[in-house]
Amino acid sequence: MAPAAPFSYPHRHLLGIVGLSAEVIDELLQLSEGYVEQNRQLDKKQATLRGRTQINLFFESSTRTRTSFELAGKRLGADVINMSVEGSAIKKGETLIDTAMTLNAMHPDVLVVRHPESGAVNLLAQKVDCAVINAGDGSHEHPTQALLDALTIRRRKRSLEGLIVAICGDVRHSRVARSNIHLLNTMGAQTRVVAPPTLLPPNIDRLGVSVFHDMYEGLAGADIVMMLRLQTERMYSAYFPSLREYFRYYGLDRDKLAAAKPDALVMHPGPMNRGVEIDTELADDIDRSVIREQVEMGVAVRMACLEILAGRFDNTASGEQLAGAAK
Ligand code: NCD
Repeated sequence: MAPAAPFSYPHRHLLGIVGLSAEVIDELLQLSEGYVEQNRQLDKKQATLRGRTQINLFFESSTRTRTSFELAGKRLGADVINMSVEGSAIKKGETLIDTAMTLNAMHPDVLVVRHPESGAVNLLAQKVDCAVINAGDGSHEHPTQALLDALTIRRRKRSLEGLIVAICGDVRHSRVARSNIHLLNTMGAQTRVVAPPTLLPPNIDRLGVSVFHDMYEGLAGADIVMMLRLQTERMYSAYFPSLREYFRYYGLDRDKLAAAKPDALVMHPGPMNRGVEIDTELADDIDRSVIREQVEMGVAVRMACLEILAGRFDNTASGEQLAGAAK
């Protein structure tokens, strides 16, 4: 069953968590809940986005996020096209904006964009007529990841308010961390970051988090332990002595997890470096780890975002914004 009463989303795009109110986040999560149920049925398809075109434009490699957006669009009945940089004119020297303008001329209703540069998706959004969803830009934002993490937590712990969430590891290069910090703070959680000083961005304290350099201290009493991947593709110098030493001090194992609450949940956005940021057996422990659930929630959250963004605009020549819920 499709979720009932859609709400009026007050933005044209979804570029980040910054700027979203607690009410909007809450409504998006509620809408996603309905899709979790739908995705567990034999028949997972509906016609909400029939006739709409979704283009997934990925300038950076991705397996789970691209597949998740593709599945989400198809389950809503949209026509989904995947464009990855390998097969594109970018290799022939076409710029980001040229590509956007070319795709724009084909009248898509929504572009889902991932790009290695922070800010590139915002720039592209200014140049096109359709809605744009940021599927991750550099180390800036990854809003649908934060929403799926919030949905996963909320379904297990009922509310985000007052929860202690420890985000651990390579915060410096992580768009997942940034989007999560904004969302968790907006929803009233107490957010901590735990990392060596080299893997924290400058001015991290301005984001409203408490900072720890020791895992045992940072995890003490935590409800949620969110691990991050070491993003070596964004590292241009040495940030830690060796992977072995990193795991010893910052890798999540049962010993460090024992500092958190006994029912603390373990999360990771994937892809995981097993044995580097997380002990492989702990990652697979279904009593503690909700990593697979995060992937499941990802499809539901993206369906909600696509419904809201691709279903509400009429970008034909004569079109205006459709009247939100009256659609
Ligand atoms: C994250 C990303 O790409 O930012 N992964 C994802 O979306 N599944 C995190 C990461 O790559 O480490």
